[in-house]
Amino acid sequence: MDKLKIGIIGTGNIAAVHLDAYRKDPRCEIYALCDLDPKVLAAKGEQYGVKRLYADYNAMLKENPEIGAVSVCTWNSAHAPAAIAALNAGKHVLCEKPMAMNAREAAEMKKAAERNKKILTIGFVRRFGSDCAMVQDFINGGSVGEIYYAKAAYIRRNGCPGGWFGDKSRSGGGPLIDLGVHVIDLVRYLAGSPKAVSVYGATFTKLKNRAHLKSAKAWVSIGQSEKDVFDVEDLAAAMIRFDNGMVLNVETSFTLNLEKDYGKMELFGVNGGIKLDPTLSLYTEMNGYLADVKAAFPVEVSFEDVFAGEIRHFTDAVLTGSPLKVSADDGVEMMKILDAVYASAQSGHEVLV
Ligand SMILES: NC(=O)c1ccc[n+]([C@@H]2O[C@H](COP(=O)([O-])OP(=O)(O)OC[C@H]3O[C@@H](n4cnc5c(N)ncnc54)[C@H](O)[C@@H]3O)[C@@H](O)[C@H]2O)c1
Repeated sequence: MDKLKIGIIGTGNIAAVHLDAYRKDPRCEIYALCDLDPKVLAAKGEQYGVKRLYADYNAMLKENPEIGAVSVCTWNSAHAPAAIAALNAGKHVLCEKPMAMNAREAAEMKKAAERNKKILTIGFVRRFGSDCAMVQDFINGGSVGEIYYAKAAYIRRNGCPGGWFGDKSRSGGGPLIDLGVHVIDLVRYLAGSPKAVSVYGATFTKLKNRAHLKSAKAWVSIGQSEKDVFDVEDLAAAMIRFDNGMVLNVETSFTLNLEKDYGKMELFGVNGGIKLDPTLSLYTEMNGYLADVKAAFPVEVSFEDVFAGEIRHFTDAVLTGSPLKVSADDGVEMMKILDAVYASAQSGHEVLV
């Protein structure tokens, strides 16, 4: 059987994780790469043994009609144009999160996928973690019951990666659009994919990117430089009300004066409250007493494993037609929520989604 030929648009940091996963799958062949930056492109071409290298994705798509699927791993402002070009060229597309800069662009991408009858899925990679599967098993088993409130956080003390991440014209926003998407999506997914009805949001640009600090960062953009622009929020908080009655309280930061970084997710149901951070705990009642149930082992989630799961799932969908875990609608819904948080932060009032 012919291998599925893969094109990658944007060959920076996260593209390497996509490339590693495609390289390990014997059904795939990494066929062509595209990046605006010739140095980044040449280095990835050498590392992955790919000769078809392009600065322009339209040329890559035109000259290689045999490409079957494309990963879009550019900065956020290029997601919509690159994904739409690939869909119009008849390719299946896995686009990194966030889907686009806003809901209008995301809706255009969804239309392009429908028009061309091609797969469009979004990199909500946390859905592929073993921790997500475990929480889902507890929810499906009835341990949580009706979920009516949730709390999620993705907080960094000094974690703006620099480069395009702080430049609104390329990122569309700060930690909300970069980090918040992961935890908002996970809560929404685990709660049965309700739609948002209203949002109250607040954003702040107080500490900015703390570029003057010498302290090391966990994630640094390949484009970080002393000339970095920072015109996005550094902290965002929001209350999101969904059509199933659930309310999600979310907070996310690039920079914040607190002790240390943390990520957490808590879902509160009528039968139990479940927490992931990273060990799974269930808070419930048993035989007339309050009782805490802990997983008897740490729930380990590796970066490589979740991406490998995501890429395998995408490849399965392309080759076998198996159902997608993340639909274009999920991406559009997320962009509507983010647009509403930013609109509410600007107006100071609740916004209907
Ligand atoms: N799922 C995750 O956990 C996760 C983690 C990190 C990044 N991401 C997402 O992946 C995307 C890329 O992030 P990154 O950290 O790899 O950034 P990066 O800066 O390392 O790489 C982005 C690359 O895209 C290239 N590019 C931009 N516009 C282009 C265009 N029109 N044509 C060709 N190449 C273009 C740039 O030259 C750059 O090399 C972002 O959308 C980010 O949100 C997702």
